[in-house]
Amino acid sequence: MKKKDFLSILDLTREEIGRIFEKARENRRGMPGRSLAGKAVVLVFEKASTRTRISFEVGIARMGGHPVVLAAESSQMGRGEPLKDTARILAGYCDAIVMRTFEHTRIEEMAFFARVPVINALTDLLHPCQVLSDCFTLSERVVNLSARKVAWIGDGNNVANSWINAAAVLGFELALACPKGYEPDEAVLQAARRAGARISVMQDPRDAARDAVAVNTDVWASMGQENEVPSRAKAFSSYQVDEVLMGVAAPDAVFMHCLPAHRGEEVTEDVLEGPRSIVWEQALNRLYVQEAILDYFLREKKE
Ligand code: CP
Ligand code: NVA
Repeated sequence: MKKKDFLSILDLTREEIGRIFEKARENRRGMPGRSLAGKAVVLVFEKASTRTRISFEVGIARMGGHPVVLAAESSQMGRGEPLKDTARILAGYCDAIVMRTFEHTRIEEMAFFARVPVINALTDLLHPCQVLSDCFTLSERVVNLSARKVAWIGDGNNVANSWINAAAVLGFELALACPKGYEPDEAVLQAARRAGARISVMQDPRDAARDAVAVNTDVWASMGQENEVPSRAKAFSSYQVDEVLMGVAAPDAVFMHCLPAHRGEEVTEDVLEGPRSIVWEQALNRLYVQEAILDYFLREKKE
């Protein structure tokens, strides 16, 4: 049987996502079952992480498995051992590989050379575990999500690109307000539109947020863009999510952020800590949704 990887939300159908959400709800009610008993999962990190690392480690342990963290800089990867060699070695010892890296082609290379499932824990292009979990959180709040509009304010980054993929699979409308030059990935956008997704990219944050059921944002400079912080601060200065912007959203709108957040930059303290913010719920649900993803890709989804 051929193994399956989770590199993008597009690797799942709407029906499969429904099953993952059902399992996530079950996991939240108690223990997730022991489908990883006797199995080892390696977590390869080429960038920093708090939520992703700990939620995967704890989730794997709750499922009876053994998580092994490999920090690239303290391994032979950091000394230049080819990724294709690392992939075959890790796949020999472990039953799955979770990886956070830079260029998306690196995780594709890992998936190509590893004979076990590879799960994307963030690349420069996509952050599918985050957004799948965010859609789970939002779907619990909103009765008919596919009939509503979700807004994205700020950088057309990895998280934004995964929201575009999610809109294509789950059918909700997505409006993104990005400064000129910081729009989402063109190929991701075009593929979503070809799949019939209702996606619009604009510059005015108020146009995107108007009547939206969720207002989403993220940092202005992602990991790896540290030297662009000053130019980005200038380009994004009118893209802060504040109470005024939340005021044009739907009356039942929530504020979402994948975290970590920079208060006073992309979001005000008031909004982040306010009653409409569901950021803590989003972070907690990462645990249950990722357990369901592991369960699905290691046990069920083999073709
Ligand atoms: N949201 C998220 O992926 O957080 P970490 O970078 O802490 O893993
Ligand atoms: N866009 C951010 C998300 C961090 C979870 C980054 O890539 O740094």
